[in-house]
Amino acid sequence: QTIFVLNGPNLNMLGKREPGIYGSKTLKDVEADCKVEGRELGFDIDFRQSNHEGTLVDWLHEADEKAAGVAINAAAYTHTSLALHDAIRAISIPVVELHMSNVHAREEFRHKSIIAPACKGVICGFGAHSYILALHALKNITA
Ligand code: DQA
Repeated sequence: QTIFVLNGPNLNMLGKREPGIYGSKTLKDVEADCKVEGRELGFDIDFRQSNHEGTLVDWLHEADEKAAGVAINAAAYTHTSLALHDAIRAISIPVVELHMSNVHAREEFRHKSIIAPACKGVICGFGAHSYILALHALKNITA
């Protein structure tokens, strides 16, 4: 079973981007962690990052053809993107929204997720471990 792990804007800067909030792991480190956990869970992890909204839309459509589920950290597009909301609604596989930080404990503009109503569930606040929890959630709902 293939799982797409999709990452939105600025997550390529992980490690040097606001380490007090997002920690010191790079996105490569997070990818390696996901691949190790994926092997345990019997998932083949297709891990991607883009700073472009339309690319993320394309990847969600592609996931519907190739994957059993999606874990997505849509980053700032979480709070703005109707296109991602619609793309998640348009596909039939489960999508789990995740965030490293606890968005509810941060600025007001991060409290609202435009994509959450289209997702199966939301995980936030556990740093890089949020990715691992999202994979476990997908294991549970795709089993
Ligand atoms: C984030 C939270 C978002 O509000 C923010 O725009 C990000 C990262 C997180 O993983 O905590 O870029 O999705």
